[in-house]
Amino acid sequence: MPDLRFSRAAASKQAIRIRQLYKTYDAHKEKIAALENLSCDIAEGEFAVILGPSGCGKSTLVRIIAGLEQPSSGTILVNGSRDSAPGKTCSMVFQSYTSFPWLSVLDNIAFAMRYTSTKTKHERRTRAQELARMVGLENFENAWINELSGGMKQRVSIASALATESRILIMDEPFGALDSQTRMAMQEQLLTITEKTGKTVVFVTHDIEEALVLGDRIYVCTSRPARILAEMDVALPRPRTPEMRNRKIFVEMKYEIFHLLRDHVYAQILETHRARR
Ligand SMILES: Nc1ncnc2c1ncn2[C@@H]1O[C@H](COP(=O)(O)OP(=O)(O)O)[C@@H](O)[C@H]1O
Ligand SMILES: [Mg+2]
Repeated sequence: MPDLRFSRAAASKQAIRIRQLYKTYDAHKEKIAALENLSCDIAEGEFAVILGPSGCGKSTLVRIIAGLEQPSSGTILVNGSRDSAPGKTCSMVFQSYTSFPWLSVLDNIAFAMRYTSTKTKHERRTRAQELARMVGLENFENAWINELSGGMKQRVSIASALATESRILIMDEPFGALDSQTRMAMQEQLLTITEKTGKTVVFVTHDIEEALVLGDRIYVCTSRPARILAEMDVALPRPRTPEMRNRKIFVEMKYEIFHLLRDHVYAQILETHRARR
């Protein structure tokens, strides 16, 4: 039977609601506007992708969603509430590897549960083993972090983020430091994992193909200060398969986004470079 469920967010209950968000940093006596009048809604269970050029304000946005940063003005509701305590509501995976080098793979994953879960030590260990299996690290449970490749280190981070049981998983360019082959393998694995867990995902990337491979919906951002330039539904069924990269809709959307970015973002980047010369 064909999968007619184009979006995982079928129930479309809101997980994140952002209205007129502004963020300005005070840096070295100058003000840097990172977000300007940014509004968007992310539904529960949706795989939302924030796509935009480097330095536009993507990390600022997700840090505010995670409660790690305060906005200058505007409103943000996460699960209907204003305060998103880090770890409880949202868990995060960053581009840089953030595991503890003095703990084993399994202890890293179990550690994430220590302050966010009511599980006993034994239950945490059992759950950590399940998660290690889910991310394909069952044979590396006792390895040290510095014995792992970049892709494996990110799998530890993903398993640790899943361990917190928060309903929202924020991933800030998690595969940015990986080579393109590992990156594709990680995308495929992430699809399997998120389809299994049904979590709301907010995934940051500057890569158009990555956005299309993974997302239910793509929020295309302008250059700094970031605003939402376009909001696009990816009308590809789930489970996603690698062959979908060849589908007409995939190729068309890829070029649509490319042209959008070319008109609104690349032109601005080139102009800035010209002005500096
Ligand atoms: N803590 C900070 N203090 C001052 N400026 C910052 C801070 N964090 C980010 N910025 C600036 O805000 C802009 C957006 O940064 P960021 O959100 O990290 O962008 P992105 O993740 O899209 O690359 C950049 O110009 C960056 O230098
Ligand atoms: Mg960033």
